[in-house]
Amino acid sequence: MSNNLLKGKRGIIFGALNEQSIAWKVAEKAHEQGATFVLTNAPIAMRMGEINDLAEKTGSKVIPADATSVEDLETLISGAMEELGGPLDFILHSIGMSVNVRKGRHYTDENYDFTMKGLDVSALSFHKVMQTAMKLDAMNEWGSILALSYIAAQRVFPDYNDMADNKAYLESIARSFGYHYGEKKKVRVNTISQSPTMTTAGSGVKGFNEFISFSEKMSPLGNADGDACADYCVAMFSDLTKYVTMQNLYHDGGFSNTGVTQEVIEKFS
Ligand SMILES: NC(=O)c1ccc[n+]([C@@H]2O[C@H](COP(=O)([O-])OP(=O)(O)OC[C@H]3O[C@@H](n4cnc5c(N)ncnc54)[C@H](O)[C@@H]3O)[C@@H](O)[C@H]2O)c1
Repeated sequence: MSNNLLKGKRGIIFGALNEQSIAWKVAEKAHEQGATFVLTNAPIAMRMGEINDLAEKTGSKVIPADATSVEDLETLISGAMEELGGPLDFILHSIGMSVNVRKGRHYTDENYDFTMKGLDVSALSFHKVMQTAMKLDAMNEWGSILALSYIAAQRVFPDYNDMADNKAYLESIARSFGYHYGEKKKVRVNTISQSPTMTTAGSGVKGFNEFISFSEKMSPLGNADGDACADYCVAMFSDLTKYVTMQNLYHDGGFSNTGVTQEVIEKFS
């Protein structure tokens, strides 16, 4: 159902790899709500070509960019403004990757080259996107920029490994850049801290299936799924949330404020 919440708004959506991707669902819903946007992903992630189906479905152009390359980001952001016919109203950063997780390195045995790569891809890229957008004066006033985070930034989830540190840095960038972008151009910057969700990035975490069930039982509303996350992103891109900025917004069915649930207690009785 469309309320045309994003009618006339232009944006860039990073990170749609396949139908499971949160970014994929955001693209579908933003399109439904009247937005126009450019889709982007790392050139290597496009080998499967799935993003072209999404582009066709949403009438979008695809411009590849490695989010760690400022040069790629300049080409992407200026290309998007040209393609869409003016400055942007929203950006979704839906990017995460840890080489230590991929290679099975324990948190206490990190390979620091892997650590730096993961930090660059998962967190610093958010700064690079915003710094490039600011330098190109690519955002309209009251524009909205979002990145996706996870509660391991605040609390320990051992198998989340160095992604926990990456998410803490990501959330800090949202606050710090959000201050400057707000002052300079009334652009708002937030992170959404999402429930565990079955996607390519999510399922790379060890014990993810057990973990998703635990989280489900620890959340009064149950886990928020990717579609619900996409709805929240649309709301955050709309004019109905104009004064929300520099926040880490939990979208987790109540998990973050729950000490224990009856269902979990009963498992031990
Ligand atoms: N799935 C979960 O449980 C969960 C929970 C909370 C937060 N998140 C976050 O949501 C975001 C999206 O992840 P997802 O779960 O949809 O998984 P996903 O694997 O579908 O998306 C991750 C994306 O990052 C892209 N990417 C990796 N390196 C890149 C680079 N150098 N340049 C540009 N793009 C690059 C990948 O190609 C992929 O499209 C991530 O930030 C993730 O940490 C996921």
